[in-house]
Amino acid sequence: MPPSLVIYVTQSFDSDAGRCIRAAADSPYRVVVVCEEPPRAIPDGLRDLISAYEEVDDVFDPGVIARAIARLQTSRASIRVLFSDDERAQVPLARVRAALKLPGLPLDTARNFRDKALMKRVWKTHGIPCADYRLVRTEPAAVNAASALGLPLVMKPIDGMRSANTYRIRSLLDVRRYFDGVRAASPRGVLIEQFVDGEELSCEVVLHKGRLVWYSSTNYIPPPLKVVERRGEHFAVVLPRERQGADTTRAAGIAARAVRSLGLRTGMSHVEWFRRADGSVVISEAAARVPSAAISTLAHLADGTHLIDLWVRLLVLGQVDAPPPRRFAAAAVFLRGSGRGRIRAVRALPGVIEKSGPLIVAADYPAVGTAIERDWDGNGSILFRSPSTRAVVEAVEHARRTIRITGW
Ligand SMILES: Nc1ncnc2c1ncn2[C@@H]1O[C@H](COP(=O)(O)OP(=O)(O)OP(=O)(O)O)[C@@H](O)[C@H]1O
Ligand SMILES: [Mg+2]
Repeated sequence: MPPSLVIYVTQSFDSDAGRCIRAAADSPYRVVVVCEEPPRAIPDGLRDLISAYEEVDDVFDPGVIARAIARLQTSRASIRVLFSDDERAQVPLARVRAALKLPGLPLDTARNFRDKALMKRVWKTHGIPCADYRLVRTEPAAVNAASALGLPLVMKPIDGMRSANTYRIRSLLDVRRYFDGVRAASPRGVLIEQFVDGEELSCEVVLHKGRLVWYSSTNYIPPPLKVVERRGEHFAVVLPRERQGADTTRAAGIAARAVRSLGLRTGMSHVEWFRRADGSVVISEAAARVPSAAISTLAHLADGTHLIDLWVRLLVLGQVDAPPPRRFAAAAVFLRGSGRGRIRAVRALPGVIEKSGPLIVAADYPAVGTAIERDWDGNGSILFRSPSTRAVVEAVEHARRTIRITGW
């Protein structure tokens, strides 16, 4: 029998790459790595787990990947899985899979996940609850779309990340003010969406052959757009201990339908959704990947699950373990500075440490003198954990309300 290969594609050996390789190696298959770094960059603990290695100059070029695979196939090995945890590689790898007739995320599905306009179009035709939208390419078209959809709106790139170039639109003047900037960041078109008012949450879903087999939801406090709009607003992500609130179960069902409609059959998706004041669920967007490090860390704190391990095991072996009982709620608060320049003072930290100290499991406190960051993850963070969701939420609210980081 020719050996079966699992091919993992990565730009570099960051910590997630190590986790992916270890998880893939925990299988009967040989692990092959295609990477932009030279073989000497392979960290020591990983070397023995990798049976073949191809150094390439561009992991996002399907031709480059296909040629690397052709070199590997001289031993007539069969490829079981070709994967990457880098979202930018999703469409290029799907092209290679299509050319080589490999299983995994199909090309049209990869495109649906990477282009928010395609995503919304699919959702509209499948009746998935989501914001009304228009895709526009010129400023006059943007103004017309805004008039047709009605204010307020959100204007954003079709493949944005981390809320970059994303704006709340309150007037037609705002459309004109922000259009060029968004267009420059998103040359294939600009999305204009009706603004959804409500709480914002994530729902991680795992599908196996189309069936929803695992889910977990986190609350964003406040919505990320509000965070980037306001300097000094701390951002929190809360993972409740209770896995199955009535509304999260309902949201997970809708999220599963949403990602199935995009073509996902077996995989993990990080879905973002809104809970409106009347309790209704509106799906915001979905990515075919494990969630951000913050959510993955919280899941691990709550019940010991490593989401990367869960995902890779699913892709490689087609197996998902039943979720262990969740013993804790967990939360991360990202501390953000107001003002510009460098941090001059950090106020009220001792009070938070005194009040919530027993809940703090890790912290990276902002340092005076460092430059104030504008991103949602700010200048530092505190991780809380407790068997009581309420205690975690109180610690988060206290930290958000009291800690003040001011600039020069
Ligand atoms: N239609 C909408 N209504 C209300 N808020 C929105 C809407 N679209 C986007 N937002 C806000 O803007 C933020 C960023 O938008 P979105 O989630 O689409 O992209 P992104 O977060 O930049 O991408 P990614 O989550 O892949 O990093 C959201 O988290 C949300 O707070
Ligand atoms: Mg988002």
